[in-house]
Amino acid sequence: MGDLSDDVSTRPAGAGARTEAESERAAAAAGQTAAGSVTDTGGPSPLELSEAQMRAMVDAATSRIVEFIGALPEQPSYRLEGAERVARSLIEPLPERGEAYDGLLARLFDEVIVPGFNAAAPGYLAYIPGGGLFHTAVADLIADAVNRYTTIWMPAPGLAQLEAVVVRWLCEIVGYPRDALGLLTTGGSMANFTAIFTARRELLAEDFLHGTIYVSDQVHHSVQKAAMLAGFPAAAVREVASDERFRMRIDELQRRIGADRAAGKQPFLIVGSAGTTNTGAVDDLAGIAEVAAREKLWFHVDAAYGGFFTLTERGRAVLAGIERSDSLSLDPHKGMFLPYGTGSLLVRDRGALARAHAIDAGYLPPMQTDPDFVDFSEISPELSRSHRGLRVWLPVKMHGIGVFRQQLQEKLDLTEWITERLREIDGLEIVAEPQLSLVAFRLVRPGLDRDGLNDLNRRFLRAVNDRKRIFISPAIVRGDYLPRICVLSFRTHLPNMEQTLEDIRAAAAEMG
Ligand SMILES: Cc1ncc(COP(=O)(O)O)c(C=O)c1O
Repeated sequence: MGDLSDDVSTRPAGAGARTEAESERAAAAAGQTAAGSVTDTGGPSPLELSEAQMRAMVDAATSRIVEFIGALPEQPSYRLEGAERVARSLIEPLPERGEAYDGLLARLFDEVIVPGFNAAAPGYLAYIPGGGLFHTAVADLIADAVNRYTTIWMPAPGLAQLEAVVVRWLCEIVGYPRDALGLLTTGGSMANFTAIFTARRELLAEDFLHGTIYVSDQVHHSVQKAAMLAGFPAAAVREVASDERFRMRIDELQRRIGADRAAGKQPFLIVGSAGTTNTGAVDDLAGIAEVAAREKLWFHVDAAYGGFFTLTERGRAVLAGIERSDSLSLDPHKGMFLPYGTGSLLVRDRGALARAHAIDAGYLPPMQTDPDFVDFSEISPELSRSHRGLRVWLPVKMHGIGVFRQQLQEKLDLTEWITERLREIDGLEIVAEPQLSLVAFRLVRPGLDRDGLNDLNRRFLRAVNDRKRIFISPAIVRGDYLPRICVLSFRTHLPNMEQTLEDIRAAAAEMG
């Protein structure tokens, strides 16, 4: 780990093994200078680490990370004991002085990271998993260390281009035309927000409060939130009833649009779901595309969870029509297994994004006119932000998209595998057959009313999770409490599904 005098791991930041001159410079940098004098330390900033310190810092973190990842299969699927104590122990006033890195690192891995749901583990089948590719962690380290400014093309043409290339790849995956464009976001919520804002700017006037938006009653709440953030009252979002497979009813959609037009409203946007969070339902995207075309409405697809399954043959069939949308949200931190923090919005007409976000500022460098070169600040709400392209580019370049396709295919197969076996458990009912990689079910017992069944299934889910080998979460659908399994992590394989089945069988037996 290098020479001790240069070892950041044992030296509190801003104190310790410094020479006297270094300490004086550090004190000066901390503002302890004589009144009226200029704070010039005459040397490197105390925040500038030496080469050996940088290596030591990364090496020590790498050791802990590798150990953490290696232990994932054996770690409990969730751990909430001591959570409050850990959280409270972190509350402190702004520290004036630094502490040794070694101690901070140990505290992070031994305490801070410990409580919570183990979202990186192979047994994580709750909500919408992803996994957390290590490649992306390294990509972030690189991007953050070089700290290029990538939301405008000119300050970092290479890295900005790399992000544009990634967006093009995503467009290619969903079958969008060559000149479609989009942006990487922090997640699906921001993608949905930018989509609704763009559709609003494109189709409605400045006075837009008569605008109405159509979603299924199963849509992810980030869509309603996005509408609210884009300035619409809650009532502007029309929840269209879903069918027995939890898919938006097209006849009902058409009826609601007609009724709204007759009442003087301005229908402008339909949001289809390509994999709902509750039950994994995929709306009839081709059917919605027809309605949108006929009614001249913007068609956005929330494909945050399901969109990447277009890489597989089975997924492509289920998601047919997705390529006819005007925009879609697609989350690499779900279907590409990236760590949290990378979503995307793809838009068929790139001009719509540019028009929606157009605003001038004289102090910015010149923007690009070549359609191959993108200034992301011109087509998104953000200016300064972290670079996101490398997060996707590095794993795709290292493995090729074929590996992602194969991994997603495996998730579809695993979901089918467990569904067939769940079906054989006495008194267990499959409520939502898998359309992609999500299955929702419940225990049923004769003589129980809805409250009784909900209570039974709450206890059932708790009994499954309390074994701490896997972790599942519920959906509340039409008043029913449904345990559900969503298979999406690149770390989840057949042995994890066998474990899942064992724990579900045992918990079901315990329920009598
Ligand atoms: C279908 C769907 N849409 C949107 C979102 C919101 O995405 P994010 O959490 O990345 O903001 C989620 C999150 O799980 C989702 O499942």
